[in-house]
Amino acid sequence: MRVKSVHVAVAGATGAVGNQMITCLEESNFPVKSLKLLASKRSVGRQLSFRGDRLPVEEMTPGSFKGVDVALFSAGGGTSKEFAPIAADKGCVVVDNSSTWRMDPAVPLVVPEVNPHAIKGYTKKGIIANPNCSTIQMVVALNPIHRKCGISRIVVSTYQAVSGTGKKAIDELFDQTRAMIHFLDYRKQVYPHRISFNCLPHIDVFQENGYTKEEMKMLHETRKIMEDDTIAVTATTVRVPVFYGHSEAVNVETRQHISAEQVRELLSSAPGVRVMDDPGADVYPLATDAAGQDLTLVGRIRQDESIANGINMWIVADNIRKGAATNTVQIAELLVKEYL
Ligand code: A2P
Repeated sequence: MRVKSVHVAVAGATGAVGNQMITCLEESNFPVKSLKLLASKRSVGRQLSFRGDRLPVEEMTPGSFKGVDVALFSAGGGTSKEFAPIAADKGCVVVDNSSTWRMDPAVPLVVPEVNPHAIKGYTKKGIIANPNCSTIQMVVALNPIHRKCGISRIVVSTYQAVSGTGKKAIDELFDQTRAMIHFLDYRKQVYPHRISFNCLPHIDVFQENGYTKEEMKMLHETRKIMEDDTIAVTATTVRVPVFYGHSEAVNVETRQHISAEQVRELLSSAPGVRVMDDPGADVYPLATDAAGQDLTLVGRIRQDESIANGINMWIVADNIRKGAATNTVQIAELLVKEYL
C-alpha cells in the first residue's frame, strides 16, 4: 500500500521534545510533503535542519495551520489548549504531547504497542493525545503481563530525568553541577530546590489528596490506555539529577500467578521491549542505555516474595524519545497509514 504524503507542522519546534520530533520524522521516513516549524515570537529568525534543508521557525498564530494535515504539538499545556482546537477546526489532526487533552473522553490517548485501535477516535475532536512519559514506558512493559494474567495493582516509584521539564531544566542541572564542583553559588529557577546531587519527590503540582499531578496521571492514564478501570495504581514520582532517561521501580500484583521466568519470556517477544536481565553479569537497564534509542528496557525481573502473585521489575526508557517524540511520531505514522 502506498502511504500518502502529508503537510506536517511541529508546534514547539525549538523545544527539547519538538526538536526530537523533527529528528524522529527524519529517522522514520515519515511521508512528509512539507514541514512547518512553529514556536513563539522569540524564535522567529532561527532556522532548523530537516532532511538537508534549513527551514525557518515561524511564530505560531491561528493562521499557521491552513493546509497542514498533521500537527505535532509540544509547546506547553496552555498553548495546546488554545491552538489545538484552532488547528483541528482547519481540518488538521493534532497529536498533542501536553496533558491538556489526555483525559478528555472524546480524545484518544495512545501508545501504539498497547492500544493502536484507539486512534480511530480522532474524528471526534481532531485531536489525539500522547500520554505522560512515565506512563508510556510503564504500559509498554506491563500490557503483555496484563493481557496474560490480569494486573490488579501497580506500585511504582519513578526516577525521572530533568529533560522531561524542558530545555531550561537541562541547563539548570548543568549550571548547578558546575557551580557546586567549583564551590560557587548556584541559582534555582526551574525547580524549588537544588536538583544537582539531589532527588526531589515532587513532579508537577501537588493535589488536594497529597499526591502530585504526575502521580495521578500515572493512575488515570494507565487505566485509559490499558482500557481497564479496575487496575489500582499508586505512584511516587521523583526528579533525579539525570539528563536523559526515566527509570522506574515497578511492583505488580496479578490476578493469576506468573513466574519471573515467564515474565522474562513474555517480555522478550513483546513489541517495543528489550529485556536486559542478567544480574550475575551486572546487566540491568540504565538511563545511559536507554538514552538515544526507542525501546523500553526491562530488567531486575523477580518474584515479589511478600505476596502470592507479585512481580518486581526495573523499567527504563528515553523520556524524550519513547516518552514523548517517538511515541507522537509513531501515532502520526499509524494515523496517516490507516486513517487519512
Ligand atoms: P520558544 O523556543 O520560541 O520559546 P521546552 O519544553 O523545551 O521548554 O520547549 C517549549 C517549546 O514551546 C519551545 O519550542 C517554545 O518556543 C514553544 N512555546 C512556548 N510558548 C509558546 C507560544 N506561546 N507559542 C508558540 N510556541 C511556544
